[in-house]
Amino acid sequence: MLGEINNLLKVVKEENIETSEDLENFRLKYLSKNGIISSMFDKFKNLEKEEKIKYGKLLNEFKNKVDIKFNEKKKLIESKLIKSKEILDESLPGLQLNLGSEHPLNIVKNSIIDIFKKLSFEISEGNEIEDDWHNFTALNFPENHPARDMQDTFFIKKDIALRTHTSSVQVRVMENKKPPIRTISPGRVYRNEVVSSRSNCFFHQIEGLYINKNVSFADLKFVLYKFVEEFFGKNIKIRFRPSYFPFTEPSAEMDIYLGKDTEDKNRLTKGTGWLEIMGCGMVDENVLKNCGIDSNKYSGFAFGMGVERIAMLKYGIKDIRMFFENDIRLLNQFAIL
Ligand code: PHE
Repeated sequence: MLGEINNLLKVVKEENIETSEDLENFRLKYLSKNGIISSMFDKFKNLEKEEKIKYGKLLNEFKNKVDIKFNEKKKLIESKLIKSKEILDESLPGLQLNLGSEHPLNIVKNSIIDIFKKLSFEISEGNEIEDDWHNFTALNFPENHPARDMQDTFFIKKDIALRTHTSSVQVRVMENKKPPIRTISPGRVYRNEVVSSRSNCFFHQIEGLYINKNVSFADLKFVLYKFVEEFFGKNIKIRFRPSYFPFTEPSAEMDIYLGKDTEDKNRLTKGTGWLEIMGCGMVDENVLKNCGIDSNKYSGFAFGMGVERIAMLKYGIKDIRMFFENDIRLLNQFAIL
């Protein structure tokens, strides 16, 4: 009997149980009424007393091993079955996808672009690393202008810097295209500023340029008013204040009227109710000449605004740095549900 049990142990060990069918066959072969174990116990009954003592323990151990194998395989096969059913259950709800959301700056940038597209403006983009000519000289910046200083601009080497505005893109457009030109240039710009809640060392701009015959300041006012009306809503009041930029003459700052009925608006408008949202002006003759455009034939206007500033206003975001931290709690608020 010893040899028989040892042989059977080897056979049991090698039994391959993969499917529930294999499992049932195994059960029938070893554990059922007419199975091997039952017949072994029948044989055991007929043994002499001394032999019973010898083989009883072995037989029980053998039965235990068969039971353990059976139960382990049963568990495994059942859990596989459940899993495969889960995958195949077509009535279960679908897996929830983790959708990202559009960044608030992109939302604002795209809605500004859409408005100018409707007004027939094209989009032009350029390099973030720019040479002195396109960022400063062509734009009529005098030799000693503070923006040319290391304090204000990130220079990479002499005459090469991170662009401080996207006006540089417009210089490239003027150099390469004949008027009429209607273009806006969105993009990231860099300034060597102390980072605070109101200013960052990089931000985004959308600048615009229109060049044609007989373009006047009235055209500038019309286009900017149309933009403001579309973006902020009808009946919004705007005003122009004289200003200075090297590349425009005359130059102006455009304000919108927010009112001062809340503490926030009072703070934002420094108690005046007015908030500056962009710089603008008629393109300086020198700039046209620098870019190869006949200033006797053509004139134009330009404007430029900061996307962060407008997004902060639109969404009531009080710290510009929040745009760049990518905190999921902020971004989630812009998810499309
Ligand atoms: N380039 C200016 C700036 O960066 C904005 C501007 C553009 C002003 C065009 C007037 C005309 O601040």
